Amino acid sequence: MSTQPPSENAGEQTEAGFRIPDKGMFVSEYNKEIFSATRMPERIKILDTTLRDGEQTPNVALSSEDKLKIAQALDELGVDIIEAGFPVNSEGEADAVKHISGAGLNAEICGLCRASQGDLDAALACDVDSVHIFLATSKTHLEKKLKLTQEQVLDKAVTAVQYAKAHGLVVEFSDEDGTRTELDFLHRMHKGVQEAGVDRIDIPDTVGVMTPSAMQQFVSEIKKNVRVPLAVHCHDDFGLSVANSLAGVLGGAEEIHCTINGLGERAGNAALEEVVLSLQAFYNVKTNINTRKLAFVSRLVSQLTGVPVPPNKAIVGENAFSHESGIHVHGVLSESSTYEPMRPEIVGKERTFVVGKHSGVHAVQNKLKEYGLELELDQMKEVVARVKKYAESGKKLDDAELLAVAYDVMGQEGEPAIKLDEFTVFTGLNFTPTATVVLNIDGESRRASETGVGPIDASLSAIRTAVSKDIELKEFRLEAITGGSNALCEVTVKLGDSKDAQLLTLGKSVGSDIVTTSVDAMIEGLNRLWVRKLNVQNGAGRKEKKRAY
Ligand code: KIV
Ligand code: ZN
Repeated sequence: MSTQPPSENAGEQTEAGFRIPDKGMFVSEYNKEIFSATRMPERIKILDTTLRDGEQTPNVALSSEDKLKIAQALDELGVDIIEAGFPVNSEGEADAVKHISGAGLNAEICGLCRASQGDLDAALACDVDSVHIFLATSKTHLEKKLKLTQEQVLDKAVTAVQYAKAHGLVVEFSDEDGTRTELDFLHRMHKGVQEAGVDRIDIPDTVGVMTPSAMQQFVSEIKKNVRVPLAVHCHDDFGLSVANSLAGVLGGAEEIHCTINGLGERAGNAALEEVVLSLQAFYNVKTNINTRKLAFVSRLVSQLTGVPVPPNKAIVGENAFSHESGIHVHGVLSESSTYEPMRPEIVGKERTFVVGKHSGVHAVQNKLKEYGLELELDQMKEVVARVKKYAESGKKLDDAELLAVAYDVMGQEGEPAIKLDEFTVFTGLNFTPTATVVLNIDGESRRASETGVGPIDASLSAIRTAVSKDIELKEFRLEAITGGSNALCEVTVKLGDSKDAQLLTLGKSVGSDIVTTSVDAMIEGLNRLWVRKLNVQNGAGRKEKKRAY
């Protein structure tokens, strides 16, 4: 390994073992230089254990149906091996594994088993392609948990591998608590399971107690006596699971166990999205993962497990490609690599600019442009000043509130063109929700009635019908601000125009009735859309209000 400072064209070398990192990633030249002399495998296999170790996350329990949905998403993502569950655990678990095995997925479907015939029979009954047999090897586990000698453990492991192989299964064997096991015993264990026909051996860092350099050496020592592919399974108790997994690869591992969003026992497992992107960015080692689907799968897993993704989570967190500070926004707008190490589209995300205390004119201008607003410099400075004042009071300013400030500064939030004169909505059991509105639209009275799947849907449809069918409800967000059945709610609507993609705006309202609050937000958004449309029709700055919708 070279420790020289990077040469200018470190990225251009083509000598064996060196690969040029992917386009769209902007890692350090020094990093490239360091790893230019390191031999790495072309491709790493990904075993995803979201449905097994991930489901062991405290308070997570997935239905069979949700497990199948996740398995299908993992398959589309390109995971090589899906650890679908622990079949002997319960009937429900076996049922889920069986469904996944029968779903015709491309991935190898694997069931977790202890080194026992009962567990292996349960997995066989689920028609899995492979089994992941685990058995503890560390002194603590042998003495305090299993109450077995090393010889007994070795014998159990060998018998289990032989049984699984005799039944035509692909077999991966894990030395549970392997990283706290003396190497001598691991060598003996690996000799035994290899003679029994094991296909892969996994080294679990069960309680996440390795450092990257120790992990690299540990795996390379093990590799000396192993001829089947090696895997690593790292837990995140010290926040090092991804670094340790990468170190495992440097030590000779060819497969990594990981989970979506880093779910798993206690502090979790190595996050698949971080592992895959790091392999690609730092070592140019490929996986079969379609990284563009990562954001989608992360959201799906978060929704179905009920475990939120922290906003600052690498790769898939809400803030991962979000910029607030004026200096950063300015930099990113001129060249994204100034403050982004990879392009967001690589992982299926979008860059966002957040307006807040640290924002400057560039950030605010850019955000308002998204909604078609171009302000004079003086007006822009006034908006920025108000934004900072608002943010300094500790409140978060969302896009709808920013628009309200901008329209106010521009003097366009005056007398609304669209007013609600009458509104009724009926809903109930075995009754189709129906709403009627009478709107005063620039002096003209218009009435419309519509039905919907619920009272909000019916009401917003009736308003659209009264104003114009060109109006598109692009987003609808309803959040409870306080608890209880009389809670305050906040509704935000994003509106567009099917005839003009540039017309985009937001409306927002806060109230205690979710239906009338939704209607108020819609009317506010429509009035903004009206002003925007008039400006397009008549030229900005003109006060004619004869057209719009
Ligand atoms: O962390 C661990 O050791 C495991 C085993 C089942 C491999 O999850
Ligand atoms: Zn684990």
